[in-house]
Amino acid sequence: MTRIEHHLSEERRFPPSEEFRAASRLGDPAEYERLYRESIDDPDSFWGRVAGELPWMKPWERVLDWSDAPVARWFVGGQLNASAVCVDQHARGERAQKRAIVWEGEPGDKRTLTYAELHTEVCRFANVLKARGVSRGDRVLLYMPMIPEAAIAMLACARVGAAHSVVFGGFSSQAIRDRVQDAGATAVITSDGGWRRGKVLELKHEVDAALDGIEGVHTVLVVKRVGNDVGWTEGRDVWYHELAEQVSTDCEPEAMDSEDVLFLLYTSGSTGKPKGIQHTTGGYLVGTYLTSRYVFDLREDDVYWCTADVGWITGHSYIVYGPLANGATVVMYEGAPNHPGPDRFWSMVADHRVTVFYTAPTAIRAFMRWGDEHVERHDLSSLRLLGTVGESINPEAWMWYRRKVGGDRCPIVDTWWQTETGAIMLSPLPGVTATKPGCATVPFFGVDAAVVDETGQELGVDEGGYLVVRKPWPSMLRGLWGDPERYRETYWSRFDGLYFAGDGARRDADGYFWVLGRVDDVINVSGHRLSTMEVESSLVSHPAVVEAAVVGRPDELTGQAITAFVTLGPDAPAGDELRKQLVEHVSKEIGKLARPAELRFANALPKTRSGKIMRRLLRDIAAGVETAGDTTTLEDFTVLASLRKYDD
Ligand code: PRX
Repeated sequence: MTRIEHHLSEERRFPPSEEFRAASRLGDPAEYERLYRESIDDPDSFWGRVAGELPWMKPWERVLDWSDAPVARWFVGGQLNASAVCVDQHARGERAQKRAIVWEGEPGDKRTLTYAELHTEVCRFANVLKARGVSRGDRVLLYMPMIPEAAIAMLACARVGAAHSVVFGGFSSQAIRDRVQDAGATAVITSDGGWRRGKVLELKHEVDAALDGIEGVHTVLVVKRVGNDVGWTEGRDVWYHELAEQVSTDCEPEAMDSEDVLFLLYTSGSTGKPKGIQHTTGGYLVGTYLTSRYVFDLREDDVYWCTADVGWITGHSYIVYGPLANGATVVMYEGAPNHPGPDRFWSMVADHRVTVFYTAPTAIRAFMRWGDEHVERHDLSSLRLLGTVGESINPEAWMWYRRKVGGDRCPIVDTWWQTETGAIMLSPLPGVTATKPGCATVPFFGVDAAVVDETGQELGVDEGGYLVVRKPWPSMLRGLWGDPERYRETYWSRFDGLYFAGDGARRDADGYFWVLGRVDDVINVSGHRLSTMEVESSLVSHPAVVEAAVVGRPDELTGQAITAFVTLGPDAPAGDELRKQLVEHVSKEIGKLARPAELRFANALPKTRSGKIMRRLLRDIAAGVETAGDTTTLEDFTVLASLRKYDD
């Protein structure tokens, strides 16, 4: 019994409205079908045409070279520069005075940069990097708050041909140190601090601690944001604003090979040392450009806001490279979603007349918990399209998002992808795909996805198994920094010739993909392999529950038994009565075998800094053992302590 069972059924369907369809970039199902077929049957022609929409410095000779599989080479022989694609082409054309970045700091300060201004700032920043000896082929680590300089610094690195490695500003000095050393970074770009929930994040201080006693970093470039006191190492540390005054604002972009590394981005994986996911220039830009254009249906007058941090792949692909390659107007926000109040996002949507809004299910569940009144108070009529990313969204949260935020009028694109895939892989195309709550629906152009059993055979309708990709795609990772063997081993060894990165899924009768979560999270109760995500969704569909995490704990009789951790809405009374009701609810929705053997109420769940529930830690708590694994990615350590206290 190795397949993953599935038990939740969802009958609701939401086709695009006629109004949305008629105005969208792609609203004709036949046209979509034709393009998708071409992208799979004749990828050279499809991707060659798309790539031709970007400004290349030298044309490619071959669209794809897969002879060295699993390391792909796309647009072989072509040359381009990512900053020229994202900035110069617009700054020199009709978009020069169009807003590129609309930024708000947490305290409420605002800045807007047109494409022409962004061009000046990127060139200036690139010249500062050059003045400090940063050049083509170097690695530069960024540890920045969400200020325009974060995006500017990424683009400046790209301009001079250095690979950036952005470390999320919530990580500790140890994470910075590991990544500096693994990547062999020679320069660090940071800031004195950043604002988060009214407090200063002492970023420079963390960098100092990270670099203490290690060699190799010749420059720490510090952007002034907060004005707090910072430590200073003479010779190594320099204020950005001081050097910026001394350099010119002309800077020719380096001609980069399509396969030159654009950036590294480390993901922690569940165990062991972080992996430096390696993305290159041409294919990554083509992939993020096209997905931004079609999934977010970007149009000239859109005001697009992705609430991710640039420290994650979502920020790289859908704040910086994808939208800017399209010449879009991008909103960027520095701080917390509930500062100064739980309606901060909605007041910003109203103020900036945001049209396309992209966020994470964990944020959506937090908004539900904080109460509808914070959403209802604001005029959200500018919104026309909503998106989610990061984990499966429970149908209840999806419905809430659609009703309360989208006013029942905006399509929702549930986008499945990974740091490794670089760009969106499964998603509705909002003008043609009928959506279903909680479903990432169909593969994007060029994505040959399938659900297979443990022998790699494709499964039938509604059979749960492993989600794989059978053909290379332009924005795929090219390897792990410094460890080609681990790349093959991690992604390509489970199934011969297939890319597999850990998720389970099923395909329904319409061919839609339902992501069932990480296969490591699957629970085996009496030989039934259950998706934790489904049991969680069932719990969340009860009106009292806001969030749920479900794990297996060892059980002599059934192999594993289900422990559920549940957080409740503001008015729901925790207690035995509700506990009984919830267990009954799951039993009714899914079946007796999915009934939690134990159900615990919790004030909060342990999450990674990107908002994913850390079930690994909950498994230890459920089993009553000490946590041995890595907890450095945990967002809030007090959560674990309070869950354990419950144990006593
Ligand atoms: O398990 C899937 C989940 O997030 C994983 C990738 O995480 P990361 O590399 O941090 O990238 C997150 C942003 C792209 C996937 O393996 N995941 C992401 N999006 C979805 C999802 N699971 C279900 N539905 C999604 N839409």
